[in-house]
Amino acid sequence: MKAELGYCSLLLLLLTVDVWGQQTRPRPRPRPKPPTTRRPPKKEPEPMEPTDFPPVIIGPPSSFPDCPRECMCPASFPNALYCENRNLRRVPVIPPRTHYLYLQNNYIDSVTADSFNNATELKWINLGNNRIRSIEKQVFEKIPNLLHLYMQKNFLKEVPSNLPSGLEQLRLSRNQISKIAPGTFNKMEHLVLLDLHHNRISDSNLAKNIFKDLKNLVQLNLAHNILRKMPANIPNSIAQLFLDRNNIEDIPQDYFKDFTNLAFVRLNFNHLTDKGLPKMVFNVSTLMDLHLAHNNLTTVPLFNTHLEHLHLNNNNIESINGTAICPFTLTEDVHDPDSVPRLRYLRLDGNHLTPPIPLDVIMCFRHLHSIVI
Ligand SMILES: *[C@@H]1O[C@H](CO)[C@@H](O)[C@H](O)[C@H]1NC(C)=O
Ligand SMILES: *[C@@H]1O[C@H](CO)[C@@H](O)[C@H](O)[C@H]1NC(C)=O
Ligand SMILES: *[C@@H]1O[C@H](CO)[C@@H](O)[C@H](O)[C@H]1NC(C)=O
Ligand SMILES: *[C@@H]1O[C@H](CO)[C@@H](O)[C@H](O)[C@H]1NC(C)=O
Repeated sequence: MKAELGYCSLLLLLLTVDVWGQQTRPRPRPRPKPPTTRRPPKKEPEPMEPTDFPPVIIGPPSSFPDCPRECMCPASFPNALYCENRNLRRVPVIPPRTHYLYLQNNYIDSVTADSFNNATELKWINLGNNRIRSIEKQVFEKIPNLLHLYMQKNFLKEVPSNLPSGLEQLRLSRNQISKIAPGTFNKMEHLVLLDLHHNRISDSNLAKNIFKDLKNLVQLNLAHNILRKMPANIPNSIAQLFLDRNNIEDIPQDYFKDFTNLAFVRLNFNHLTDKGLPKMVFNVSTLMDLHLAHNNLTTVPLFNTHLEHLHLNNNNIESINGTAICPFTLTEDVHDPDSVPRLRYLRLDGNHLTPPIPLDVIMCFRHLHSIVI
């Protein structure tokens, strides 16, 4: 009975697919609107020369005598220092009571240790969206208790060295990083999140054991770099591995074998082919979400019963054989709920497939709620 119900709802879904298909047929385009007198908002050009920078904005008066004049020190949050969006070119002297420091969206181009002389209590620093090219090594010696460092959207060419060993989150996306010195992460066993997406990291920039000692790493984002190979020796604590928009062609056999927490893998926009994927490479029982869109696959890869979401849109898939990809065989106990594949969401659009969805797919994946074809 249950199987029949599943069958009915999928039939409905096929119909929906068909309706969508009709909706996406070209409709008459609206004529371009005649130009109106209202101009689009003009975007201020980014100032290039220091002399073009707008003047520093001074903060409101504060009851704290040590509050830097360009910042805001609310009496109700004595541990927070707000200096964001103030056209700053340098980091002010940070009061010793500060735990949370907000410096994002300014014009800061280097970070020097003298600002942090007494700021030993700092736990969070947000320096996102500045123009930082260099950061003095001694800065981090002054702030040993730092937990979160956000420096996304700056001009860094390498990962800062001497990072505090207690750091839990490091965000360095949207820089120009192509260098990670060997040993950079050796003592950082508390790091949970490392975001390096949108940089210029290539295979040769990643020393073989660069990530090995990050024993508590949960999320690693290396998307939008220039990798051709899967990064080596990722710690097996990892749960989320993001590698979209690289040039990866293949995945070594057993690459995922030792990961015991891996749940999300994203490899959209790479150069993967059937040949580059060993047959059982995605047979990982913890994996819930797998993104392989915009690659060059011609068949659906095999995956584990536990996988719930699979993105395969925009590949070269011409047919789908439900019997071949079904992770369990019909000889197994179909009444054991654990043996029924958990796949709920499947994207196959942008391939060379046309409805209807083959019956063997529907028979195998009974939890499938939606399939985009
Ligand atoms: C930093 O600490 C030293 C020694 O405790 C003190 O003399 C100095 O005034 C402090 N500087 C600031 C900016 O608070
Ligand atoms: C897939 O992995 C499961 C464990 O998650 C294992 O029992 C099974 O034998 C594997 N399948 C193949 C074909 O290797
Ligand atoms: C995809 O693979 C085919 C051969 O299987 C090749 O001709 C084509 O150039 C590849 N496309 C891309 C975008 O790599
Ligand atoms: C689908 O796969 C099964 C098992 O691998 C095979 O026996 C069958 O011939 C395939 N069907 C088609 C239409 O290729």
